[in-house]
Amino acid sequence: MPNSSNPAERHALARTPLHIIRELETGLLADRAHTSPKYFYDTVGSVLFEAICVLPEYYPTRTEAEIFSTHMADMARVIGSGGCLIDLGAGNCAKAARLFPVLHPDQYVPIDISVQHLQDAVTRLQQRFPHIEMTALGLDLAHDWVLPTEVRKDKRLFFYPGSSIGNFEPHQALAFLRHLRAACDRDGGILIGVDLIKDKPLLDAAYADSLGITAAFNLNLLRHINQLLQSDFDVSQWQHEAYFNSVKSRVEMHLCAKENLRVNWPDGYRNFIQGEHIHTENSYKYSIDSFSALLAEAGFSNACHWTDRQGWFAVMYAKAA
Ligand code: AVI
Repeated sequence: MPNSSNPAERHALARTPLHIIRELETGLLADRAHTSPKYFYDTVGSVLFEAICVLPEYYPTRTEAEIFSTHMADMARVIGSGGCLIDLGAGNCAKAARLFPVLHPDQYVPIDISVQHLQDAVTRLQQRFPHIEMTALGLDLAHDWVLPTEVRKDKRLFFYPGSSIGNFEPHQALAFLRHLRAACDRDGGILIGVDLIKDKPLLDAAYADSLGITAAFNLNLLRHINQLLQSDFDVSQWQHEAYFNSVKSRVEMHLCAKENLRVNWPDGYRNFIQGEHIHTENSYKYSIDSFSALLAEAGFSNACHWTDRQGWFAVMYAKAA
């Protein structure tokens, strides 16, 4: 059993909400073990993800940035100005800040899991753009969330860059988009980054880079789970695997047991045989047509898009009307 006499670990366990412990246990004990990608993002995982975003193999971040810089004026023409810009998973707010000079929002509402993460960025932005009202919100977008009354109702534009929508299962993506649609009036809309289907070698390399940063990002999940669940995963017994599953149109990430092993936690254990996997992430890739159809099913209309020269990534805009 893990060392539960360690006060720091006991403290960490005591602070893990029961629903998280139950969710992790259920996933680890399933026939095909799996975990939610939200557990990648502890402090180390967030730093590793920032490093992934600047890797040569990981094209989405720079390709999306290129689309914004090339087509910003046209986006502004289509979307119009003013209203309330709601930044979902805002992080350091840098992507949204580039839209301010062209979209001129009246209010900016960055949302992230923890409002503290946002505070520094918002304070700096407020100095640069004093005329924009800024309302930072701490909300977990994976759970039901409601916008408080201080978020203006007129002309809400939901901004969801980075292709994070791809980390939802398609039915969850639809439910999420419907939730956004229900949260805006007919003058609202959505501006969203979508990673497109492309050749398998490009996709495989983007999720299995030569420096091993994505491998570290995947393996770090086990350290985070050890903290949350007080389990005893030994990272050295696991190997990163990632590949494009063209039938399901998604990149799958797995952790593969290098040997027969046993993982223990206070209320349970699991034996893994050599080669057995924990499925840690899906990253769905869409076509323009399939994502437009999803937007329409969620109640958005008039979808339009901008892409890069290679057609690797799209920024899509659709109206709530
Ligand atoms: C956050 N999300 C859009 C990334 C993706 O590409 O699915 C997460 C990621 N996983 C491995 N590399 C990047």
